[in-house]
Amino acid sequence: MIIILLGPPGAGKGTQAQKIEAAQGLVQLSTGDMLRAAVAAGTEVGKQAKDFMEAGKLVTDEIVVGIIADRIEEDDCREGFLLDGFPRTVAQAEALDNMLDHKSLKLDVVIEMKVDDGALVNRIIGRYNCGNCNQGYHDENLKPKVDGVCDNCGSTNFKRRADDNRETVSSRLESYHAQTAPLLPYYEAKGILKMIDGMADIDDVSAQIKDVLGALA
Ligand code: AP5
Ligand code: MG
Ligand code: ZN
Repeated sequence: MIIILLGPPGAGKGTQAQKIEAAQGLVQLSTGDMLRAAVAAGTEVGKQAKDFMEAGKLVTDEIVVGIIADRIEEDDCREGFLLDGFPRTVAQAEALDNMLDHKSLKLDVVIEMKVDDGALVNRIIGRYNCGNCNQGYHDENLKPKVDGVCDNCGSTNFKRRADDNRETVSSRLESYHAQTAPLLPYYEAKGILKMIDGMADIDDVSAQIKDVLGALA
């Protein structure tokens, strides 16, 4: 199965992708996570991406399309994958269509996670992740069971993203509305767009996604 989670920054794409990966074994491909790893490792891609990311602007189509094209060739993608944060422009969506055509694969569904802009800022400002396994948390909405200890791996080391501040969030939201929202009519026209209410609580959102995926099977 090939799924896209589409939604603005803070919509809950990463949160739900991690849950789907754990429940269904479908690998999560997050271009944001891959780019952050490249920045941390100081690779050529990381050096090119860093300034765009810190300004809340999209990295070039060429870079992200190249990353995804390489990644989907790996063994763990053979049974399908879940795209989180890609595609983000119509040019990326077209490039993905071409990649899948060449491999005789098809996109099953695009799930739009709809959340009001007003709720996104709080979600992003309160977000942090495990520094070891990347499990996501939130200061108010999703705390570890034991304070300061990752539920998943027991690490006590947590991190916050360089782009999770108020200034960058507004620029990320602008990028979403100007460059990514046009993907909604693009996939609607293909008849594979499903919208869910991303304002609901985390478990409710998971249940809505489960229903969408269940209806495909
Ligand atoms: P990326 O890492 O993809 O960031 P983003 O799209 O801005 O999305 P986020 O990761 O911020 O949000 P999310 O939807 O994953 O929310 P989460 O689940 O964490 O991209 C970062 C940058 O990389 C971009 O700005 C760009 O520069 C570059 N980039 C990446 N991909 C690119 C591409 N394809 N093309 C070009 N450039 C690219 O949830 C947020 C918080 O809310 C968490 O704390 C969570 O616990 C909480 N939460 C989640 N769900 C709920 C809920 N239902 N109720 C309450 N709280 C919730
Ligand atoms: Mg994310
Ligand atoms: Zn962890």
